[in-house]
Amino acid sequence: MNILKLVRYLSWAAVATIVFVTTAIVLGWWRVDGPGGLQTDAGIEIKGLPQLGGPFTLVDHRGKTVTERDFLGKPMLVFFGFTHCPDVCPTTLFEITTRFQKLGTDADRLQAIFITADPERDTPEQMALYLQSFDPRIVGLSGSQEQIDGAVAAFKVIAKKVPQGDGNYTIDHTASTFLMDKNGKFFGLIDYHEKEDTALAKMRRLLAKK
Ligand code: NI
Repeated sequence: MNILKLVRYLSWAAVATIVFVTTAIVLGWWRVDGPGGLQTDAGIEIKGLPQLGGPFTLVDHRGKTVTERDFLGKPMLVFFGFTHCPDVCPTTLFEITTRFQKLGTDADRLQAIFITADPERDTPEQMALYLQSFDPRIVGLSGSQEQIDGAVAAFKVIAKKVPQGDGNYTIDHTASTFLMDKNGKFFGLIDYHEKEDTALAKMRRLLAKK
């Protein structure tokens, strides 16, 4: 009798487990809400979501040496790219510019930084020239190849030099914008081609974070 009860109990437990696991798979309960995947200009998917960001020493577009500590206290938008980029970088910086306009004075509490992945061509002077086309609150960061490599490693971005044959080169780079909270902790991503209202909602959530 007891064994029969146990068998019945175990079969119900098995059925319940199967139902639960199937529902979880169908509804995708294990998926992490928020950031989503990382992608490069060329659409290469980068799997996983490691701890992003960390210490860096770079030179801003006014020629001043700065570290991550100089930006603490303000939530940040961090984007890697290069000024010779034909599409992704100007589009992203233009989008940051229009989103800052939409956020109005709230945008003053955000810090957008554009870190070059091409320090060879993107001197601080070149960054300053390039950023004239965008919101003046965006800070451009350059530095030595070693300094840039450090920032690239901290954010685990892809920044790959691609020769173009004519002696020229382009850079394939991570196309997402990193959202960092005011304590310098990774908060999420705005993907390239993110829907406008989603992007703005993420920026507002970042601003609202205590
Ligand atoms: Ni680009």
